[in-house]
Amino acid sequence: MATLHSLASLLSSSLESLRQLPPQVVGDAIDLVSVLLLALGIKGLAKVRSARFANGLAALALGLAVLGLLIQLQPDATAWLWIAAGSAAGGLLGLVMAQRVPMTAMPETVALFNGCGGMASLLVAFGVSRYEGLDDGGWVAAASIVVSLLVGAITFSGSLVAMAKLRGWLDTPAWTQSNLRHGVNIGLALVCLVGALALSSDPGGWPLLLLVLASSLLGIGVTLPIGGADMPVVISLLNSYSGVAAAAAGFVVGSQLLIVAGAMVGAAGLILTQVMCTAMNRSLVSVLFGGALGAAAPAGGGGGGDATSYSRIVSCSPEECAMALENAERVVFVPGYGLAVAQAQHALRELSKLLEAHGVSVSYAIHPVAGRMPGHMNVLLAEADVPYEQMVEMDLINPEFPATDVVIVLGANDVVNPQAKTDPSSPLYGMPVLEVDQARQVFVVKRSLGAGYAGIANALFELPQTAMVFGDAKAVLNGLLTELRALGVGKVKETVSL
Ligand code: TAP
Repeated sequence: MATLHSLASLLSSSLESLRQLPPQVVGDAIDLVSVLLLALGIKGLAKVRSARFANGLAALALGLAVLGLLIQLQPDATAWLWIAAGSAAGGLLGLVMAQRVPMTAMPETVALFNGCGGMASLLVAFGVSRYEGLDDGGWVAAASIVVSLLVGAITFSGSLVAMAKLRGWLDTPAWTQSNLRHGVNIGLALVCLVGALALSSDPGGWPLLLLVLASSLLGIGVTLPIGGADMPVVISLLNSYSGVAAAAAGFVVGSQLLIVAGAMVGAAGLILTQVMCTAMNRSLVSVLFGGALGAAAPAGGGGGGDATSYSRIVSCSPEECAMALENAERVVFVPGYGLAVAQAQHALRELSKLLEAHGVSVSYAIHPVAGRMPGHMNVLLAEADVPYEQMVEMDLINPEFPATDVVIVLGANDVVNPQAKTDPSSPLYGMPVLEVDQARQVFVVKRSLGAGYAGIANALFELPQTAMVFGDAKAVLNGLLTELRALGVGKVKETVSL
């Protein structure tokens, strides 16, 4: 009891001394703690196992940072009302969106979030420039405001275009493919420069509006011609821009957390962009200035990708596939975009468990750009509680294929196309792929002979060791489960293990 009493008095005296500290010091201390928590959170995101907790930690860091800023600013009652109403509205919108968005629509959701980040930085810089001016901050403050306005506006408008294109609301107009667009974009960049230079003489007037307008149009101008498979690369780049804009906004309002978080997002987005370019065998320059590459526009030979493109196709039933699985010692599943569309991850996990109970070694081959966003397959499989150690990255699983008895390709296409290694005229040529053609037997589960994202035929389908199992991935997996159970596969071993 005495201990409790002394603890309570220690707490109250600590709170009292905290209250006597100047708000600036308390705010700075909270800002510092939030920076540390954010850094830990971002570090934790690097591992799937700790990602969920790390995400929570980063969210807590950002919440704390807002609190620290409010303690420093000490807003009046009306300002509190605005802040509370804005936070509640934004928080609710984010919550509803996050719960409703399907995994397959994640790229456009990320695009929208990037756009919101860009818009927030733009508004901060706009408010400071319009109402406080550039007088007392020196050149760092002036440069921060210009960068925040310029990059924030480009990120905002560019992200909205990217989202609309991914949703299928917007096409790439023909004129954007012509070289004329480079001239238009250079012209807009020059107008931005004029606005930025004139801002110092009139921070709240026409240069401000000119800079915001020209950079918004520039964001549209550079994003509009890009399309197809290049879109996620652009989204990753825009994510990096949103970080740069946030870091600049951090300098504008003097927030350490914004500076650190913005710099981290900027650098991480740039690294991810580079990783995606490498995985898709594209250079960043060709993504930004080379026009659209996508399903409708194969960039080289090897086009086609329907039934007429093939002369030798062997198909089989789930029953035949189940018999091969029953006799296999080592099985590798290759998930792709179609698995996500079919939402067949739980059926796949059930099938794996059955095979493992039968003594089969099971793993999942993960290609870095399988699906439609980075990490799509990892997230999809983690949803079905697939153990992380069974998800094997491309570089590690490729040497294992020659010793693999059965590979089941589930709704993947481009990422297993051997033409990427052998046919220089193929638009996929040079893209690293999963070398499933090295395995002893390959079953490809998909609904038809239709093409994947790149819009080209797949040489894998005609190889002698390949058989197609036509159907929706979930229906085929359920069919396999039924067949294997009918063969007594799980039952025998389950009884033995009892
Ligand atoms: P894709 O090559 O796009 O092939 C997916 C296949 O899934 C299609 O051929 C389709 O064939 C099949 N499919 C669709 N719905 C299905 C269902 N319900 N059941 C069974 N199969 C179904 O996929 P991938 O191999 O994962 O390759 C990804 C491609 O997207 C790459 O070209 C990559 O560059 C590009 N890309 C990747 C990203 C990132 S960051 N991951 C972003 C954008 C683009 P059917 O219609 O015949 O069923």
